[in-house]
Amino acid sequence: MPRAESWIVEELAKRREAGLERAPIVFQCAGSPAVHNGRRLINFSSNDYLGLAGDPRVIEGAILALREYGAGSTASRLVAGTLACHRDFERKIATFKGYEAGLLFGSGYSANLGIMTALAGRGDHLFLDRLAHASLVDAAVLSRASLHRFHHNDPEDLESLLKRCGPAGRRLVVTESVFSMDGDIAPLESICRVAAERDAMLMVDEAHATGIFGPCGAGLVKGHGLQEQVNLSMSTLGKALGSYGGCVCCSENIRQWLVNQARSFIYSTAVSPAIVGAASAALDILAVNPALGSSVLALAERLRGLFHAGGLHTGNSASQIVPVIVRDNHRAVRMQQQLMDEGVLAVAIRPPTVPAGTARLRFSVTASHSDEDIAYVADACLRAARREGVV
Ligand SMILES: Cc1ncc(COP(=O)(O)O)c(C=O)c1O
Repeated sequence: MPRAESWIVEELAKRREAGLERAPIVFQCAGSPAVHNGRRLINFSSNDYLGLAGDPRVIEGAILALREYGAGSTASRLVAGTLACHRDFERKIATFKGYEAGLLFGSGYSANLGIMTALAGRGDHLFLDRLAHASLVDAAVLSRASLHRFHHNDPEDLESLLKRCGPAGRRLVVTESVFSMDGDIAPLESICRVAAERDAMLMVDEAHATGIFGPCGAGLVKGHGLQEQVNLSMSTLGKALGSYGGCVCCSENIRQWLVNQARSFIYSTAVSPAIVGAASAALDILAVNPALGSSVLALAERLRGLFHAGGLHTGNSASQIVPVIVRDNHRAVRMQQQLMDEGVLAVAIRPPTVPAGTARLRFSVTASHSDEDIAYVADACLRAARREGVV
């Protein structure tokens, strides 16, 4: 090993000792069941909440787009990469979400980076929920704006931070509507009021709300009729829409600004047509199946009930994401392994993805699960929790 690399070996050893080393698990097949080393696992770690990634209509949407446009879009959007399918999808998702305009990005991560760095810079102020996703934190750091973190889901703390910061510079408030690791829900109406009173723009990341909440799965912003107050509603296409990529819905003015200013949009190859075709077919499915999201939420409610009855803590989860908080990193990893041994995939989530001392198993309930799956996983988790002394 070259001497210059020795620090990496030492750092990895420290992580291993703290129960924090990570490694991807390889699957022969995604979806539920997932197949790992020839074993079928009921998959509670997929964000394919509606099971659309493997839906024949979504796959057909991808194939049609591939045939029509080819495998790649061949250039960045402002050079020669904007295809009719990009324009059509952006209009379609804007209508779906109740906004004037939409804009596609290569991923949700890249969307957050592009949007936030385009809207806030040196001398400006960014207000971000303490438990916001890493992509939002990274975007805030990259923007060079002053970063103010408000207590999780606490509009009063947001208000006091906004009051304390002087009049100079632009202000952007950013939150998620459904939090990715806690499955709890932001008090969007209060956040809107506070942001409006202080002339701040508001961006909401709807990565985990899209497809599940609101009319036909249009998300919580539209569900509460807050499109006027929420300047930007960001979504990913890689979760309930079963594809890959990110997008934002906003006014035409903001879209035009992002087209000119969002570096991850400008300096990156346009999203591949197959991805757009798949996501577009997923939107068509949502439009004619308005109850898809609520049936997943009902299953999640059942799982929470079973966990609570057994004495497990699921925090403030009120969505399809149900964490079981076990605190200790090693214990979380051992429980993940015990569940795998019983045919269940529920990956342990540890710092830095969640705050230190709050390691958990994150269960995401999807349309692929049956009532029997829910009862089975609740039992298996309780057995593992008892073995580990969690209950
Ligand atoms: C809240 C939130 N925002 C953004 C992202 C990033 O989206 P993507 O996976 O499409 O990069 C994720 C998850 O990955 C997320 O959970």
